[in-house]
Amino acid sequence: MSASAPFADVIPDRSQPQDADFLPLNGTDHVEFYVGNARQAAYFYRAAFGMSLVAYAGPETGLRDRASYVVQQGKIRFVLTTALRSDNPIADHVHRHGDAVRVVALWVDDARLAWRETTRRGAVTVAEPQVLSDEHGSVVVASIQTYGDTIHTFVERESYRGPFLPGFRAVNDDPIARPVGLLHIDHMVGNVGWHEMDRWVNFYRDVMGFGLYQHFDDSDISTEYSALMSKVMASGNGYVKFPINEPAEGKRRSQIEEYLDFYPGPGVQHIALATDDILRTVNQLREQGIEFLKVPHTYYTELQQRVGTIDEPVDELEDLGILVDRDNEGYMLQIFTRPVEDRPTVFFEIIQRKGSRSFGKGNFKALFEAIEREQQARGNL
Ligand code: FE2
Repeated sequence: MSASAPFADVIPDRSQPQDADFLPLNGTDHVEFYVGNARQAAYFYRAAFGMSLVAYAGPETGLRDRASYVVQQGKIRFVLTTALRSDNPIADHVHRHGDAVRVVALWVDDARLAWRETTRRGAVTVAEPQVLSDEHGSVVVASIQTYGDTIHTFVERESYRGPFLPGFRAVNDDPIARPVGLLHIDHMVGNVGWHEMDRWVNFYRDVMGFGLYQHFDDSDISTEYSALMSKVMASGNGYVKFPINEPAEGKRRSQIEEYLDFYPGPGVQHIALATDDILRTVNQLREQGIEFLKVPHTYYTELQQRVGTIDEPVDELEDLGILVDRDNEGYMLQIFTRPVEDRPTVFFEIIQRKGSRSFGKGNFKALFEAIEREQQARGNL
């Protein structure tokens, strides 16, 4: 599903040498958020992030317990779901986590096989394979547990031609959407608890057939500025990348700890959305009300020295707060939003890759300083 080049250089799965990719993924199918008010959340993603409302399901389509709005831009598809009554697991999830990611859905050719292969390797079932049908055809879905209350749903949609999933009705025209050039999900990051990173790295390796992504230096990146450890796991074909963070001891309270306190527990920390024109995308997102982390002026005085010649004018990057990092394959530009809900939990990254496949390690120091200024302002440092 990713528009970027297929990355095959993932370190082979050591536990399954005879069957390296037993879980071939076509990409991220969708990300479902459980929210307090899906109608208003959908408005935010349409008006601010520029996504288009493409499908809806709720009482009008026969659902009794929930309403879901599907918004899309490029290949990025978010589902905003809310409970209609309080005695409902969606309501429980919102009570515990606030507006948060519940489902990271993965697009597969064979959902039954995906479920069988992962549960055989130890995945915990949330929902066994089931066929959903309507007049547009049928899909097969099955779900397994990952970190915290987050789940993966395998979606097999080869025989389906409808707007999203059976039961959803199409919304054909969205007068509110103001697209900003977002293309696809580049990666999605999970925060897990103290000393739990390796447990989840092993889960993605052994149960999901992922490998440790070579283009990331997985050394301890805890610094005096903030403390975390991070490893990037990638699916066999590299289409799906999940960096996993855990807090580390530092001089001060880390951003990961703040997340774990407020979420509370493990969950999705940020979703990185790719663009091929970050200056345009970020300019427009700002005009539409998205707030980004501020970057100190000193970052830009040292920028050219650190990354060499780049196509973008440094003063424009500084005006917008866009970060740059380079490796031996090229460079990348990235910027982080402030959390998009009042709890300091989920945020977004906007990323443009110009050859580099890194995750911005060289920016961690500058980024941590910026995040910690915000933590300080919230009294949580
Ligand atoms: Fe990221």
